[in-house]
Amino acid sequence: MRIAIIAGSNHRKSTSTQMARYVGERLAIGGHTIDFWDLYSQPLPFYDPDADTDPESVRQLANSVAAADAVVLSTPEYHGSVSGVLKNALDYLGGDQFDGKMVLSISSAGGAVGVSSLQHLQVIVRNVHGVNCPEWISLGSEQRRFDDEGMPVHPPLRSRVDRVLNTFIKLAEKLRA
Ligand SMILES: Cc1cc2nc3c(=O)[nH]c(=O)nc-3n(C[C@H](O)[C@H](O)[C@H](O)COP(=O)(O)O)c2cc1C
Repeated sequence: MRIAIIAGSNHRKSTSTQMARYVGERLAIGGHTIDFWDLYSQPLPFYDPDADTDPESVRQLANSVAAADAVVLSTPEYHGSVSGVLKNALDYLGGDQFDGKMVLSISSAGGAVGVSSLQHLQVIVRNVHGVNCPEWISLGSEQRRFDDEGMPVHPPLRSRVDRVLNTFIKLAEKLRA
């Protein structure tokens, strides 16, 4: 399957982006093709409803998500919600990119868990006609540590990620069948 991943942070050492990269690597090992968009290194301009055309970067992102069979979104938890840069990116996108596709959400929070941002993300996914994966990945507090190879240091998190990805791929394949 082709999977588009949008890493929704503009923080250089973002742990939600590190988790998105780890997820991309695990999926690639499973034989899937990954299209990774990092909003730190590939930032987008503010959405402008008055603009006649979308910028080239936005067209590239929209094409990448439209071509995908399933999507992964990651966000830092900011004030109990998603990051501004991820919301801005999603404002450019809609049903043309997400309709009927399985979407896995990831968040990283300073507190124990980032459930509030994940719930907000699920509302957005529903409104762009994506299908929320019933599993999600929340890392909080000490779980936000990664080693030099980008592996999560917390062993239970690694096995949880594999379980979540198994469910995500199974459901994504059923949806695309
Ligand atoms: C503006 C701002 C708001 C934040 N709000 C929350 C919050 O509501 N709950 C929480 O647990 N952590 C909060 N944090 C901490 C971040 O969730 C934490 O640093 C997380 O690791 C950020 O993700 P990142 O590593 O991908 O940048 C906030 C941080 C910032 C900068």
